[in-house]
Amino acid sequence: MMFQGRFIKRVVILTGAGISAESGLSTFRDADGLWEQHDPMEIATPEAFARDPALVYRFYNARRDQLASVQPNAAHLALAQLQQAPGAEVFLVTQNVDDLHERAGSEQVCHMHGELRSMLCQACDSVMPALASYDAASTCAHCNTRGKLRPDIVWFGEMPYHMDLIDLKLADCDLFVAVGTSGVVYPAAGFVRQAGIHGATTLEINKEISEVSNHFQLHRQGPATREVTALVRELLAG
Ligand code: OAD
Repeated sequence: MMFQGRFIKRVVILTGAGISAESGLSTFRDADGLWEQHDPMEIATPEAFARDPALVYRFYNARRDQLASVQPNAAHLALAQLQQAPGAEVFLVTQNVDDLHERAGSEQVCHMHGELRSMLCQACDSVMPALASYDAASTCAHCNTRGKLRPDIVWFGEMPYHMDLIDLKLADCDLFVAVGTSGVVYPAAGFVRQAGIHGATTLEINKEISEVSNHFQLHRQGPATREVTALVRELLAG
């Protein structure tokens, strides 16, 4: 794949809440974002879950229910098309817990912050599909323990999933692209520096300046649907 005259083979794409915004899902930190309406420390920490599990179940049940009323947008579809292109080596890592990349046709999606569509049993460590609404009385489908299921979400203070694999991909890519992420939450906010140190070209797509914009070599400012589709068109045309 060619990109501005350079040979591009391996691409790592990091997506954040901004890629799903045009599908109708709220981001976290924009005006009217989820963390404007809720204190993340009351929802997205193990301590919050221990203190008020009903609140945490309600929050994630509502977000899971919302998935039924939204569709992947042109940016999700373009990334799936890029992944499916012959010869493409595109590693897609997302901070998003929605399933819009999968529903757009992406077969490999690395969910570093977990997924709404699965639940995790704290008794037997099984991860299982989330098929219903959950509460503190829900029972694990594997070990039948009651009251130990939690949303399969990586909360503040917990270790993101798949970091070894992500580190390997960042160390061995030609192009790193971050789409729709504010660059506030680590380790994802540090990926641009990791990829850059290893020689990758780095590109940020965001409708605004992010916290880590200054670490990217290239910037495209605008809505993800427009900018991602344009980028994918260029990469595929190269
Ligand atoms: P944020 O809400 O922090 O940032 C969303 C970013 O998307 C902002 O930089 C916006 O400018 C940008 N944006 C919004 N709409 C856009 C659009 N249509 N096109 C392009 N860019 C757009 O979301 P994240 O960076 O994903 O973790 O947040 C990181 C993590 O913080 C989340 O995974 C979540 C949260 O706490 C967990 O819940 C575990």
